[in-house]
Amino acid sequence: GKVGVLFGGRSAEREVSKMSGNGVVQALQHRGIDAHLFDTGERSLAELAAEKFDRVFIALHGRYGEDGTMQGALEQMHIPYTGPGVMASAIAMDKVMSKRVWQSAGLPTPRFVVLNAAEASSEQLHQLPDALGLPLMLKAPHEGSTIGISKVVSVDAIQSGFDLCAKYDETVLAEEFISGRELTVPVLGRGSKAYALPIVEIRAPEGNYDYQNKYFTDDTQYLCPAPLDDALTQKIQALAVQAYNALDCRGWARVDFMLRTVDNEPLLLEINTSPGMTGHSLVPMSAKATGISYEEICNTILESATL
Ligand code: DAL
Ligand code: MG
Repeated sequence: GKVGVLFGGRSAEREVSKMSGNGVVQALQHRGIDAHLFDTGERSLAELAAEKFDRVFIALHGRYGEDGTMQGALEQMHIPYTGPGVMASAIAMDKVMSKRVWQSAGLPTPRFVVLNAAEASSEQLHQLPDALGLPLMLKAPHEGSTIGISKVVSVDAIQSGFDLCAKYDETVLAEEFISGRELTVPVLGRGSKAYALPIVEIRAPEGNYDYQNKYFTDDTQYLCPAPLDDALTQKIQALAVQAYNALDCRGWARVDFMLRTVDNEPLLLEINTSPGMTGHSLVPMSAKATGISYEEICNTILESATL
């Protein structure tokens, strides 16, 4: 049947999503699948319904695509879709809510403080280092691709980092900075059948894996499988699956970690329920390390589409 690849959309990650969607649609067409691009940023839900897709591959990132709202619309239209359902998508799109769920499940995540973007006082901001130390991270909880994230190294820099977050979000996540290695793990499947792919380690120039380094430079080094001993690899992969199941994810997602230098403990940062599928992206890289081509991983994800 006819497959829609939903891409573009209206979030700050629109351009990234266009790259993902273009990659996915080409891969599916190459397999002989009747796949078509559909830009949800330019076209309406009525037009989506009129396309009569048998199922859709969600290659949208960020709000209105990865956050449960599109998933809800697809449920209403009875169109099976890739990736987690409404609730998991909504929780995963919110870094604060994800951390709360993981904490309640006993899973490790960096210490944090949540601030109201409109109401936080400068006194509250100045107290953050007492609670979290320095450096600390300031994050817009609902963004992706490092948009709205700052590493704050001095008290003087808190306000500008906070202001950046406030441009994107109503709440601001202040998080303890973890000195260590940056890792990410794709997870596929569901429940007791969920499984992790190889771990990718990201070594960005000066530790700065920002929007530019994610998509537009070749300066970032990726190691896959990450050079970790077997026991630690298994521990991190198991934790990725637990983090995925704690939110009741299905289909696919990618779990981001910091591996803390002082004690080699992996800490959960966030989970991406519609991960990037660009030429620079990490799920295809991980799949490749285990012999799965870009085309195959796209097909596997499509096959998991459900309601
Ligand atoms: N938010 C980007 C697309 C990712 O997680 O890959
Ligand atoms: Mg993300």
